[in-house]
Amino acid sequence: MKKMVAVFLVFALLLPAVFAQGGAETAAPATTAAPAAVKEQKQVIKVTTKFVDNEQTAKSLVKFVNGVNSRSNGSLELQLFTGGTFPIGKDAMELVVNGGDVMTIDGINFLADYVPDYDPMANGPFMYTSFDEYLAMTKTQLVQDLNAQAIKKGIHVLSLDWVFGFRSMMLKKPVLKPEDMKGLKIRVPESPVYTYTLQAMGASPIAMSYPDTYSAIDQGVIDGVEGSILTYYGTKQYERVKEYSLTRHILGVSSVAISEKCWQKLSENQRNIITEELAKATKDNLDETNKLEAGYAKELQEKYGCHFHEVDAPAFQKAAAVVYTKFPKWTPGIYDKLQAELVKIRANLKK
Ligand code: G3P
Repeated sequence: MKKMVAVFLVFALLLPAVFAQGGAETAAPATTAAPAAVKEQKQVIKVTTKFVDNEQTAKSLVKFVNGVNSRSNGSLELQLFTGGTFPIGKDAMELVVNGGDVMTIDGINFLADYVPDYDPMANGPFMYTSFDEYLAMTKTQLVQDLNAQAIKKGIHVLSLDWVFGFRSMMLKKPVLKPEDMKGLKIRVPESPVYTYTLQAMGASPIAMSYPDTYSAIDQGVIDGVEGSILTYYGTKQYERVKEYSLTRHILGVSSVAISEKCWQKLSENQRNIITEELAKATKDNLDETNKLEAGYAKELQEKYGCHFHEVDAPAFQKAAAVVYTKFPKWTPGIYDKLQAELVKIRANLKK
């Protein structure tokens, strides 16, 4: 059913463009350069995300959308859909790739469906030990090259920096070592890198979209989910699963991506407004995330009766190492290239 809704929306969103061009297919331009004279026209853009209103990412997105709408004096109308009330994940990225007037804020795995090397860069298990390491990685030439490849697929990546915390296990029992994961059905995002990681860590992963997890836990389809402290708190999973085991296996981070076709329709002024307001909101999300994690952890334990557990991290890391050999679509040597960047990044961060 959801798929049918998405197909309908793809059609509805793309129809005006098809008529405007007499049905002609246009390839996505390979560069971001603005055409010399794009006449400014009112543009309505649907902004879609899985995050629920109570989560920091959604709160910072509200600031972004309001900032753009009020600054543009009506020339831009960003319409925000939170909590999966408009297509999210793969479906949203399809709308983007097909040239819809859509911006999606979601897992970087959905970019990796089109440019596979995004996965080891953003979702590689145990790749990063701090937000700063990751945020420095997104500024490297290696990642700029991935963004250039995304443009050729019709995806304009506006940000990769919407961090929401390291992901750990939210379950009904603690998991301290890989053996404890045996037989546990744990929800993962719809992404092979997550599935392989959880499998390698000892669990039985089940991929589904986040909004489906509440009923899946209630019905016993899954035993729990993996996610950050902000997710645990913001989505109220603590009502269902009280044991939080700190595996910190993958960094929770979202990209902000708009269709390249839509981006090319915008005037320079409209682009500047979006870019500037997004930079402010990205910083807001990061600052708040850094501030909130410790407070949420305290509240989850003291107010909501959750228990936090340190785990045998080296054992989980060792178990997950095999994931880096599983993906023939990743550029050969990408892991080593990322590690080489990380060596430089870590040296710089120490200065
Ligand atoms: O609201 C859901 C969000 O916090 C996490 O979603 O799909 O990355 O687990 P996901």
